[in-house]
Amino acid sequence: MPTRLLLLLFLVGHVFSKEPPDVDCWVIHLKHINCSWNKQGTPDVNYTFYSWFQSDGKNCTTYVSENSKNTGCIQPYDELITRRFHTFQTRLSHGNTTFEKTHQLKQKVLLDAPINLTVKNGSDYNLWFYWNQTAVHCVESEVRFRVNDKNWETSLVSIGTQKYCINLPSSSSRYELQVKSRVGKNCGESFNWSSWSEPAVWGSNNITDTNVSVSAWTPLLYVVAAVILILFIMMFLPNERLRIIPIPDWRQFSKGMKGNLSYNEQACPVQEYCNVSESDSDSSDGSTCSVTTDQTDCSVSIAVTNADDLSTAAGLLSSQEEEQVSE
Ligand SMILES: *[C@@H]1O[C@H](CO)[C@@H](O)[C@H](O)[C@H]1NC(C)=O
Ligand SMILES: *[C@@H]1O[C@H](CO)[C@@H](O)[C@H](O)[C@H]1NC(C)=O
Ligand SMILES: *[C@@H]1O[C@H](CO)[C@@H](O)[C@H](O)[C@H]1NC(C)=O
Ligand SMILES: *[C@@H]1O[C@H](CO)[C@@H](O)[C@H](O)[C@H]1NC(C)=O
Ligand SMILES: *[C@@H]1O[C@H](CO)[C@@H](O)[C@H](O)[C@H]1NC(C)=O
Ligand SMILES: *[C@@H]1O[C@H](CO)[C@@H](O)[C@H](O)[C@H]1NC(C)=O
Ligand SMILES: *[C@@H]1O[C@H](CO)[C@@H](O)[C@H](O)[C@H]1NC(C)=O
Ligand SMILES: *[C@@H]1O[C@H](CO)[C@@H](O)[C@H](O)[C@H]1NC(C)=O
Ligand SMILES: *[C@@H]1O[C@H](CO)[C@@H](O)[C@H](O)[C@H]1NC(C)=O
Repeated sequence: MPTRLLLLLFLVGHVFSKEPPDVDCWVIHLKHINCSWNKQGTPDVNYTFYSWFQSDGKNCTTYVSENSKNTGCIQPYDELITRRFHTFQTRLSHGNTTFEKTHQLKQKVLLDAPINLTVKNGSDYNLWFYWNQTAVHCVESEVRFRVNDKNWETSLVSIGTQKYCINLPSSSSRYELQVKSRVGKNCGESFNWSSWSEPAVWGSNNITDTNVSVSAWTPLLYVVAAVILILFIMMFLPNERLRIIPIPDWRQFSKGMKGNLSYNEQACPVQEYCNVSESDSDSSDGSTCSVTTDQTDCSVSIAVTNADDLSTAAGLLSSQEEEQVSE
């Protein structure tokens, strides 16, 4: 009995290993196409690989191998930014068996992580992050940053922009930012993001937790004090005078709090605001700097408009920045 079972297992295993290998291809960093056929395990024969877009077929230039069996191929191609819109054909052959497959690579682009992420404490009192990525005019990015190792906040950076600004940072806090990218909508959006870049860090290394929470609660204390003050005034003023009570600027308060607390407004927060740091500074001109939308509340159209604003604003600021640097 056991020998029969073993024989059966052996046969089943043999049948599975005879399955045609599934070839999976990705456009890596718009430089080469990486195909692999070892998803179901290392094949037991040594396939040779041949590929073509329309007529320009070529044998594999660089094989990837495992246990001296070919399991993948790296084919360099020029102009993959446009060529990937055509169908891509692959052929695996061994002896007189061949397996051909047609691939749609348009959305199967995988960029390398952005490089050279640097941070500059600008003379405009903003914190500027710069990076480099390939095919600038086709690539969109996403940054994530955190202050004092708290939760990550993410923000989309529109196509063509390779910088991000945090308004009025507090030098007693620690800022950490990373960026990732992919081919954007206007160039045939890719499915997958690159991995996160190396982080860039600015500011103090050590900040005690108590300091953080005190400064985080400060705006709330202001609000509570204001409410109490209003109540007092209402109690002591005669009714007719109520109309001239100065109303505090609630939007200013909520802006200040947004950076620190998860303060939820019922309405969609259409207003733009810069990423105000721990310091409770007035950010009246901060809206030109960077834009963060509350994605849970906002519709897609608002996010898109804001992204456009961001790129123009960032463009304007960049020319100022360059002038200041060149001085
Ligand atoms: C190609 O793809 C294989 C399998 O996905 C991976 O192990 C390898 O690192 C990739 N090589 C390059 C150069 O992208
Ligand atoms: C690919 O390799 C085969 C066998 O080595 C050869 O006959 C063929 O001409 C090559 N094709 C191209 C396009 O280089
Ligand atoms: C498979 O082919 C590669 C080159 O295409 C060769 O280097 C390798 O030795 C071959 N492996 C076997 C087991 O034949
Ligand atoms: C495949 O090649 C073998 C010898 O290499 C030959 O005996 C067999 O007839 C061929 N099969 C086909 C379908 O051509
Ligand atoms: C990244 O920085 C290094 C060293 O600063 C520089 O040599 C390289 O050219 C930079 N890469 C890009 C794409 O700018
Ligand atoms: C950042 O730059 C501003 C203006 O140039 C300067 O006042 C401030 O001290 C700098 N902060 C740090 C931590 O370098
Ligand atoms: C790298 O990025 C910086 C800042 O965005 C830019 O000035 C520079 O031209 C970029 N370098 C390359 C090689 O794209
Ligand atoms: C692309 O993304 C999908 C879904 O997140 C993931 O399963 C897959 O491994 C990714 N492919 C590559 C080559 O990173
Ligand atoms: C952080 O704290 C350590 C010891 O507590 C100290 O040696 C270091 O200088 C501090 N770094 C900064 C940037 O304050």
